[in-house]
Amino acid sequence: MPATVVVGTQWGDEGKGKFTDLLAKEMSMVVRYQGGHNAGHTIVIDGEKFAIQLIPSGVFYDHITPVIGNGVVVDPFVLLKEMDSLSQRGIDVSRLKLSGNAHLILPYHQELDALHERHLGKAKLGTTKRGIGPAYADKAMRVGIRVQDMLDETIFREKLHATLSHTNKVLTKVFNRLPLDADEIADKVLSECLDQLKPHIADSVNLVHDALDAGQHVLFEGAQATFLDLDHGTYPFVTSSNPIAGGVCAGAGIGPKEITRVVGIAKAYVTRVGAGPFPSELFDGDHDGDRMVDIGKEFGTNTGRRRRPGWFDAVMMRHAVRINGLTELAITKLDVLDTFDTVKMCVAYEIDGKRVEKLPYHQSELHRATPIYEEFPGWNTDQTAATEPDHLHPQAQAYLRALEAQVGVPITLASTGPGRNQFIHWES
Ligand code: IMP
Repeated sequence: MPATVVVGTQWGDEGKGKFTDLLAKEMSMVVRYQGGHNAGHTIVIDGEKFAIQLIPSGVFYDHITPVIGNGVVVDPFVLLKEMDSLSQRGIDVSRLKLSGNAHLILPYHQELDALHERHLGKAKLGTTKRGIGPAYADKAMRVGIRVQDMLDETIFREKLHATLSHTNKVLTKVFNRLPLDADEIADKVLSECLDQLKPHIADSVNLVHDALDAGQHVLFEGAQATFLDLDHGTYPFVTSSNPIAGGVCAGAGIGPKEITRVVGIAKAYVTRVGAGPFPSELFDGDHDGDRMVDIGKEFGTNTGRRRRPGWFDAVMMRHAVRINGLTELAITKLDVLDTFDTVKMCVAYEIDGKRVEKLPYHQSELHRATPIYEEFPGWNTDQTAATEPDHLHPQAQAYLRALEAQVGVPITLASTGPGRNQFIHWES
C-alpha cells in the first residue's frame, strides 16, 4: 500500500539515485515515471561506480522489481546497451519490466533535437540532444510509437511510415537534410531490439497496482527535477515531461491518494545545466562557485557539461515544497561545503527594490531577481565520516536547521559523501 516518491527539487543532478538506492532496501518495486536517457544517476557500491540512465536504481537489489513506466520515453538501443553493460558487471537485469505504453525514442527524434537546437542558435535550450523533446512532441501530436507497437510488425511499420511522412518533410524542407527510410528503421529496431526486449514488456500499470494491493512498498523515482518541469519549471528552459510528484499519477497510472510520502532531494547548494534563469548563480570565475564545481565534480554524468553553480535557494525550495507536496527533504553533498569559510543561503529575492519571499510567477521578474543572502560561518571540518547527527560540526548542524526553518519541512537524511554509507539520518 505505501507509495513513496523521490523527486528532485532544484534543476536536476541532486543525487536522487543515491537516495532512491538507499530507500530501495525497504521497497519491492522501483518505478521510473518520466524522462528518458537524459537522466544520469550515479550510484557507488563498494567503491564501484555505476552510471545508469534509464533503468531504475532499484535494479541493484535482488528483491526489487525495477519498472520503466508508461510516462518514460525509451530509446530501445540505449536501454539494451545499459542492460548489457549492467549484466556484464554482474547485475541481474532479468526482473526489469518495461511498460508497453511507454513511447519510443527513435533515431529521427535525436536528429530533430540537435537540429532544433542548432536552429535556435544563441537562444538554444541546451538540451541533452537525446531526442526527449521530439519524442514527447510526437506523443502529444498522437504520432508517437509505443513499445507495444513493436509487438505487431504490421502496425509498427504502418505507424513508422505515417509519422515519417510528416517528419521527413520537416527534415528535408525545413532543415535541408536527407529523408529517413521507415522500413530501414523498422528492420533495425525489430532485428536488433525486439527479441531481447520482449520478455521485459509488461502491463506496468496493473503490476504497480497489484504490488500496492498486496501491501508492498513501491518507490517512484523521478528524473530531472521540479524546476525542469514542463509546466512548473523555468519554461522554455525545461525538459518535456513532468518530473514533479504529480507526474507519478500520469506517468505510472496511480491516483494521488496512493502517495503516502514525498521525499524531495536537494543539494546543499544548487547547480543547473543548460540555459535559463538562476537567481543565486555564481558565475564563471567566482571563487566559491568554481570550488563548488571542482569539489562537487559538477560535470554532467551524461554529457560532461560543466554545471552552473550557486548557493542554496530557499525561495525556490519553498515553491518546490508546495508543488510536490513534499513531506520531507534529503540534503545531498553537504561535504562539498566542508572547506568554505562562509556558507550562504538565499532566503528572499530583491526585485525592483522590493523584498520578495515567494517565487514570482512572471519569469521576467525572476530574471531581474537578486538574491538576499543569510550568511553562516563555515565549519571547515571534514564531514565525510559522519554517520550520526551529532557527528556533524555544530555549524553544519546550524546550517541544516536554518535550512529546515526556511523551507518548512523536516530534513530526514543528509549525505556526506558519494558512498552508499555516507549519510546520516537527521533529526532536528
Ligand atoms: P532535455 O531534457 O534533453 O530536452 O533538456 C532540457 C533541459 O533539461 C536542458 O537544460 C538540460 O540540460 C536539462 N536536463 C535534462 N535532463 C537533465 C538531468 O538529468 N539533469 C540535469 N538537467 C537535465
